[in-house]
Amino acid sequence: MTKTATDQSILTLTAPAKINLALHITGQRDDGYHLLESLVVFGGAEDRIQFKPSRHLHLSVKGSFAEGLRQEPDNLMVRAARLLAAELKCKPEADMTLDKSLPISAGIGGGSSDAAATLLGLLRLWQRTINDDKLRMIALKLGADVPMCLEGSCLIAGGVGDELSPGPRLPKNLGMVLINPRVPISTPSIFKSLKRKDNKPMGPVPSAFLSAVALADWLDDQRNDLEMAAIEQAPVIETVLQALEDDGDCLFARMSGSGATCFGLFASVKHAEYAARRLAFSHPNWWVSHGGVQ
Ligand code: C5P
Repeated sequence: MTKTATDQSILTLTAPAKINLALHITGQRDDGYHLLESLVVFGGAEDRIQFKPSRHLHLSVKGSFAEGLRQEPDNLMVRAARLLAAELKCKPEADMTLDKSLPISAGIGGGSSDAAATLLGLLRLWQRTINDDKLRMIALKLGADVPMCLEGSCLIAGGVGDELSPGPRLPKNLGMVLINPRVPISTPSIFKSLKRKDNKPMGPVPSAFLSAVALADWLDDQRNDLEMAAIEQAPVIETVLQALEDDGDCLFARMSGSGATCFGLFASVKHAEYAARRLAFSHPNWWVSHGGVQ
């Protein structure tokens, strides 16, 4: 979550895509939530949120994926503002504008990242502080992936996604391409259709990956246990993965989260940029983005 601009009254934060480089489902809790192990990074694309003082709580949404959200009466950002204000015993007063560039129901935590940025942005706007544990508890009430989005940098997630530890050092200048074939996928439906819930855990994660090739080699031995279920629901995911793998510069490709967005890893951001151009040209109907990884 980077602060990109601020004057006395306006604050803009970015809410980056959350990518599961590996995602292993290792069990299920009595409440139905799944236990998992995941190596998570952020980047490749982002939403932007502007916060302004106001006497009311108001959210406007613009940007390429605004349509999918306008209908939602109980947006996660509005719920985040209300929960935070209740905890701080203040009124949820803010004028928020979300510039929605991340596809919705896409396996890259767009809503979770927006909610996390809302918590951080409102704390600054309201000039308040809160104990880290309380902030994480509010985040978890909003969704299993919201606490990790508060971190916004490479981490290892356990539990239902809420037990976080620092991730490995990533190769310098690692590039990533994200592709979504514009097929929304419902996360609960993918979890529900899982046949196995007790898969092999992730292998031990090295403390650093010195090159993109070393990271790709390690990822080769890991999995995304949601990938098969998502492909059954949306076979186009296989076409996306194939297109990434067919690109001569792509070192590794996999689906993120519950899909349908897939990522490709590249030796540099420049390599990712050129590949993104090629892939967008040959598949004009897909959403294609690129960027660095943190
Ligand atoms: O927590 P969140 O609302 O983001 O999760 C969406 C849905 O995904 C949950 O209702 C649940 O069906 C499923 N889920 C799960 N196990 C997780 C995370 C999410 O079963 N660890």
